[in-house]
Amino acid sequence: MNIYLIGMPGSGKSTIARDLGKKLNRKVIDLDDEIAKNALMFVEEIIEKLGIDAFRNLETEALKQINEDNVIISCGGGIVTKRENKAFMNGFKIYIDTDIEIIRKRLETDYERPLLKTKTLDSLYEERFLKYLDFADVIVSNNKTLENVCEDIIEILDKEGIL
Ligand code: S3P
Repeated sequence: MNIYLIGMPGSGKSTIARDLGKKLNRKVIDLDDEIAKNALMFVEEIIEKLGIDAFRNLETEALKQINEDNVIISCGGGIVTKRENKAFMNGFKIYIDTDIEIIRKRLETDYERPLLKTKTLDSLYEERFLKYLDFADVIVSNNKTLENVCEDIIEILDKEGIL
């Protein structure tokens, strides 16, 4: 079964996905990287040149293209903004719940996230929080060390019979 990580930008999805991949010996797919590979442009460039709606369509296409099983997929923070995406996420969806203040600190020095040029982190969070919960099969707190959050996830996957 595929494992999808969802959550706010800066919540730690990519780092957790990489670590889990190593620990579980599973391939990791970063959806943003797939979109960039397909479009031959960086994600930031796509959003700036083609606009956010075009990016969202490419994101859905990249999601649909995944035809592997037993992979870990780190999704872009906005995956939940299109409800139809949920139907294309065939697997176990984990919401990485990271304190907004921790995210704020992490993103303070990050000028690469184009969405944060037009919206505040708080408004993004408010817009999306319930959507993350709606998409998720389980919520995992990331207000702890990488080692501990991965342990929590592995325990859940084990209980769910996914490992
Ligand atoms: C976005 C998050 C980004 C990327 C794009 C849009 C969003 O991914 O997909 O810039 O709408 O939150 P990360 O969550 O990995 O930063």
